[in-house]
Amino acid sequence: MEDYRAKAVNPQQYDSPELDWRIDGDEDAYWRIFFRNHLKPYLNNLAGKRVLDIGSGVGQLFNMLKGLGASEIVGIDPSKRNVESSQKTHPDVVVLQKSLQQFDMDIKFDVAICIMVFEHIPDIDVALSRVSQLLNEKGRFYLIVGDMECFIQSIPGAEVDAQPLPEGGYATKTIRPNGTMFDIFRPLENYITSAQFNGLKLVDEKGLVSTSEQHKSMDGKPICHLLVLEK
Ligand SMILES: C[S@@+](CC[C@H](N)C(=O)[O-])C[C@H]1O[C@@H](n2cnc3c(N)ncnc32)[C@H](O)[C@@H]1O
Repeated sequence: MEDYRAKAVNPQQYDSPELDWRIDGDEDAYWRIFFRNHLKPYLNNLAGKRVLDIGSGVGQLFNMLKGLGASEIVGIDPSKRNVESSQKTHPDVVVLQKSLQQFDMDIKFDVAICIMVFEHIPDIDVALSRVSQLLNEKGRFYLIVGDMECFIQSIPGAEVDAQPLPEGGYATKTIRPNGTMFDIFRPLENYITSAQFNGLKLVDEKGLVSTSEQHKSMDGKPICHLLVLEK
């Protein structure tokens, strides 16, 4: 049987020929604008702040972060293709080809952001502990994850098959026009509990509701969640 979990946590998934993130991850793509529109009001002024974008994809956040005045931006992503693409469009940003697990730079950040990446993280306790170590005191972590109920069902343009996981949650295979993706979706509570255990206090939580025809079946329920966590 195809092991969806193993494929979801493969750091090279986004370099496979079937999945080209340069289309969906583009700054002007509908869902990237959706995420930035929800995130921006929480970020305020980033003047003087050092910002880490975990799983930066092709750099959809970089222009917004520059516009908000971030003094330093570091992006990390294990995909060679995504890193090369973002380095080309943003030569002024440091983008390293590393997963969160591999990232060992000895500096701390005021802000860390992670959009739709924990779906590829094998152990969220280890990852959230690492994020906590990377933040300055009072540093903030903005985490966006997909809603489990939403992402384990097929919707127009996304055919989903889900495998339940022994530890809870699901690993999914999603066939979409721009490629097949493998992800892990967990109950939101798991993220909140693990974050708190690792010294990250929940200061805000927002359900991201989609008005797109594609998500009609969600009936106004959130398709993703933004957690604002503070060290
Ligand atoms: C769904 S894309 C989101 C990219 C970007 N955050 C955005 O909103 O466009 C997921 C990204 O996470 C990266 N990724 C996968 N495993 C990772 C890991 N362990 N640590 C950091 N990034 C990872 C992938 O290479 C991919 O670029």
